Order: sequence, then structure tokens, then C-alpha cells
Amino acid sequence: VSQAGEIAHMVAPSALFMRICVAYIDAMTFQTVSPTAEGRHVAIAGAGVIGLSCAFELVRRGARVTLFDPADISQSTSWAAAGMIAPAYELMLHGGQIDDAMSTLCFASADHWPDWARAVREASGLPVGHDTRPTLAIARTGEEVVRLDALFEQLRAGGKQVFRPVHGLIVGGARSALQLCSDHQVDNRKLLTALKAAIGRGGGKLVRQAVETRDEIEALAGEVDAIVWARGTRETCVSNMVKGQALALHPVAGGPTQVIRYGGGYIVPKADRIVIGATSEADFASAEVSYKATDALLQEARAVCPALSGARVSERWSGLRPLAPSGLPVIGRLGEGKDDFVATAHYRNGILLAPVTAKLIADAVEGHTVSQISKAFQPTRGMAATA
Ligand code: GLY
Repeated sequence: VSQAGEIAHMVAPSALFMRICVAYIDAMTFQTVSPTAEGRHVAIAGAGVIGLSCAFELVRRGARVTLFDPADISQSTSWAAAGMIAPAYELMLHGGQIDDAMSTLCFASADHWPDWARAVREASGLPVGHDTRPTLAIARTGEEVVRLDALFEQLRAGGKQVFRPVHGLIVGGARSALQLCSDHQVDNRKLLTALKAAIGRGGGKLVRQAVETRDEIEALAGEVDAIVWARGTRETCVSNMVKGQALALHPVAGGPTQVIRYGGGYIVPKADRIVIGATSEADFASAEVSYKATDALLQEARAVCPALSGARVSERWSGLRPLAPSGLPVIGRLGEGKDDFVATAHYRNGILLAPVTAKLIADAVEGHTVSQISKAFQPTRGMAATA
């Protein structure tokens, strides 16, 4: 049952620019890699942010790309996302270390985001809503204060920009606060639209069809040199999905001008909506959106930011985050000698990790030696459904 003027929908777990010769700077080592994908035909199964980003990068390196996805982009987990680029706050949430493989990957991708956003914007001629204002993280309880303090120490030790705002207690119920300079946002929906347009401009094709095998792909698109499997939740044998529910408000006078994070909650102001999230449900009976759960998110957000009380709900939705048993993204070649690659299981960090994933996949497709850090994310035997 939809309330007046609201859109309520469930995003299913479904899971394309100028031929520019670029010298690509390695996101981790900053070494120049010469593009060698020129003229190769690459099929990509899955047109969420990961599939689209891999396609964009490969088209940029001169490849001919055909994407497959049975569903419209508005049905993707990427559309359901809040668009946060949040290596620091997510580091705290997953309990990692500043120098572990995951954090290194996340910060490298965040650093690459401004260049990536510019490239997508220039290639598509469309805006992506990249907003570099830092994220305000607040602690409301003693436990949250301890966690935020620990994050502060980790970030400082790792040489990351973070500071305690002078007016620390600037939002409702805050006992301490941090400005996280690495953490910012993009309008994920504008990004997806721009990526699609850029890929189309570069000659990439999108086929609205589900594909499971190389034979199916080649029957539809002709012979391919490589396949990238990027269908989100469909790429893992062990179906580890975590449901997330969220809602959006119409913009309101006096509303927040930067991303605010508190516990597992967040407020993400965009030009045309204010996204509020999110639940994190490992055990769920139904993938549907629930008014009870989203009302609870709204109440929590209003306690943090009372100005939101005057804003009307415009939309409620749910999505399923793809998670591998390891908890890490899976990015790389599927078995020695095969021209099959996988990019999936980005869990909470698909938008953040899109640029670095696209780079790692394009490098792997071109046969470049994988960088040291990417070894932590290689597919392991038995974990990928597609072979
Ligand atoms: N990246 C935020 C979320 O998954 O809720």
C-alpha cells in the first residue's frame, strides 16, 4: 500500500564514449599502464554500477563492448544506493585496519573519484552530481564516542584528513563529531544514467537479456574475446545478501548540506532529494520495503536533524547488497587461462569501488600483471557460480 504521493518499490537483485587513447594512472601504484584493449570484443553480464563502470573503462581503452542485463537500471542495487563514497566511515563499520587490503582499495578508489567523475561527465555530456563536501560523522552514545575516537586515531595514523569540528555538537544528540574529508558522495542515479550515455556514445551496446553462459552470449553478440561477470548477487554460490531499506524526502529549507552519519544511519542530501538509510538485514523473510522499518529510519534521522521534520517523504525502497563469504569484493580472472572475469560482492561499497574495480578488471582483461593489492580480491575456486 502506497501512501499519498510516495513511490514504494522493491529493487530486484539483478543484476556502456569516445574512443580516447588514454595513459591510465594506476590507482594504487600510480604507474602508467598502456591500453591494449583496442579492437577486442568484451561482453559484460550485468549493467549495475560495476558492469557499467567496467564497460566505460574498456570502451575508453578502445574495446568493443556489449552489455547484457534483463532489467532496467532503475531495478539495480546501484539505483537503490545512497551514492556514498565513504572509505573512512565504512572502515569503522567493518572493523578493519587503515592499512589492510580492503581499506587500501577503498581509499585508492575514493582518491580516484574526482578524475573518474570528470571523465564520465566529459564523455557523456551529463552531470553526475559529484559532491566533495566532507561527511559529518556523529556519536550519540558512549559506545559510539569510543568508536569515533578510535576511527580518529586510525585516520590520523594513516595520514588521512580528519578533524573535530569547532562547533562539535551541531546536530541533535551529538556527543562528539568528526569531519571526514575523504568521505563524500555522488548522485548514483545521475551517475548510472551518465555512464550508460557515455558507453552508448563510445559505440557500446546494451542488450536487455539475461545471460548465463558464453554460448548464450556468443549466440546473441557474436564471438567475444572476454566476458566480465558482474551481476551482483547472481555471481556468488553462497547467496549472501543483506537487505537494505531506505527512503527519500523532498528537499527542505534548513535541511543538511553535507552527508551526516550516525551509527548505521545516514542522511545524504542531493539536489532533488534527501536520502535516508539504511537497514542492514542479513535475515529477511521478504525483499519488500516495509513502512515500519522506513518510518524508524525517518524517526532516527529527524532526531539527528530536526529540520527534516518539515520534509515530506517522496519514495521508499529496498535493495539487496551482494556479499561474498569472505566479506570482500571479488575482482579478477576466473581461473587460469580463461578469458572470464568476475567483479562482484561489493556489498555496501559498490559506488565507492566502481572506479578501482573498473581499472582492475580492464587491466586484467588486457593481461597486465595484477597489482599486489588486488591479489586479496581474486576469485577463489568454488566461490563463483559462473564458469
Ligand atoms: N553504502 C551504504 C549502504 O549500503 O547502506
